[in-house]
Amino acid sequence: MLQHLVYKIKSTGPITVAEYMKEVLTNPVKGYYVHRDMLGEKGDFITSPEISQIFGELLGIWFISEWMATGKSATFQLVELGPGRGTLAGDILRVFSQLGSVLKKCDISIHLVEVSQKLSEIQALTLTEEKVPLERDAGSPVYMKSVTKSGIPISWYRDLQDVPKEHSFYVAHEFFDVLPVHKFQKTPQGWREVLIDIDPQVSDKLRFVLAPCATPAEAFIQHDETRDHVEVCPEAGVIIQELSQRIALTGGAALIADYGHDGTKTDTFRGFCGHKLHDVLIAPGTADLTADVDFSFLRRMAQGTVASLGPIKQQTFLKNMGIDVRLKILLDKSTEPSLRQQLLQGYDMLMNPKKMGERFNFFALLPHQRLHARSHELNANQSKPSPSPVAGFSELTWQ
Ligand SMILES: C[S@@+](CC[C@H](N)C(=O)[O-])C[C@H]1O[C@@H](n2cnc3c(N)ncnc32)[C@H](O)[C@@H]1O
Repeated sequence: MLQHLVYKIKSTGPITVAEYMKEVLTNPVKGYYVHRDMLGEKGDFITSPEISQIFGELLGIWFISEWMATGKSATFQLVELGPGRGTLAGDILRVFSQLGSVLKKCDISIHLVEVSQKLSEIQALTLTEEKVPLERDAGSPVYMKSVTKSGIPISWYRDLQDVPKEHSFYVAHEFFDVLPVHKFQKTPQGWREVLIDIDPQVSDKLRFVLAPCATPAEAFIQHDETRDHVEVCPEAGVIIQELSQRIALTGGAALIADYGHDGTKTDTFRGFCGHKLHDVLIAPGTADLTADVDFSFLRRMAQGTVASLGPIKQQTFLKNMGIDVRLKILLDKSTEPSLRQQLLQGYDMLMNPKKMGERFNFFALLPHQRLHARSHELNANQSKPSPSPVAGFSELTWQ
């Protein structure tokens, strides 16, 4: 990968951080995500669905709750962006099976958007318990197709654009943070983009430089921006607009969970290897590259087309979804001490504010009419705003 990048820079000049991230992570031949399983204790990082089954189960409940609240459509496409090992989809599907009597008249299908060949093979094993062959028709946007353990049709795509535009519920966990960002620094001459070049002192070493003049991605910086260093992610904007248009057109909802900020942070581009921070310019292709998600940008991209809720802290969202009740049920059912210990440790990792509880956020996109009832209530009773009608985004009330 380093050789490839050095040749590229030698032939066409310094590259943007976004181009660097895209090449390093998803280059079809050598990209970090394409040929390895980097998740879990033996990998480079661990994610919430891999830590505790409760995480995916509560998300499964969220989707059923939204499906019921929006009129129990006859079809239900569950679309996951960047499904990793397929663990989250598997936990959601288990809830769907357990609540089969509620969903029995609904035609469910699963649609996974994944660029990694290796991870799509692991997803197939997790969800269908078999190796799924690549589709023969190279022109088809569906590159793998099968049926899950519980008999639900499942398809794999490389791009969200190719997923059928039907009534869908979308989930993206730790997906937006791997999308390529452009980095900018404020200078006396105005905004200048941070680029990656070859170090003239050391061969085969990369370094950051500043672009000598304005570059196109500057258009994504707000006119009244007060920070002196910003990261912008045009690809996230394109995906949010696509999700928003689909939801406005066909209904459904999107639930996005990731680490991030609300337009306040400056320099968050970093690498992870073996659960430790890693210099982003060293040994590209061997470490994960990531940047915090700017939720204020996602909100702006959705504005006018759909309503958005959040970001709210993972700890608050999971508490509102009833994580304590679910933990108690699982603890009561398990007699094995090591299993009880695992459940408690998983809960602590997800909920502890010093661990994932405050670092991760939940953000939702919904059709405007989904929140309409709330604004009517607000108008009728100006004194006190009513809680959000959407599960997870306000305190759990038992009925
Ligand atoms: C950080 S992992 C998160 C995996 C999983 N959602 C979880 O939380 O365990 C990012 C996932 O997004 C996939 N991915 C990365 N870039 C992508 C892209 N441009 N389009 C689709 N999937 C992508 C990776 O292959 C991987 O499955």
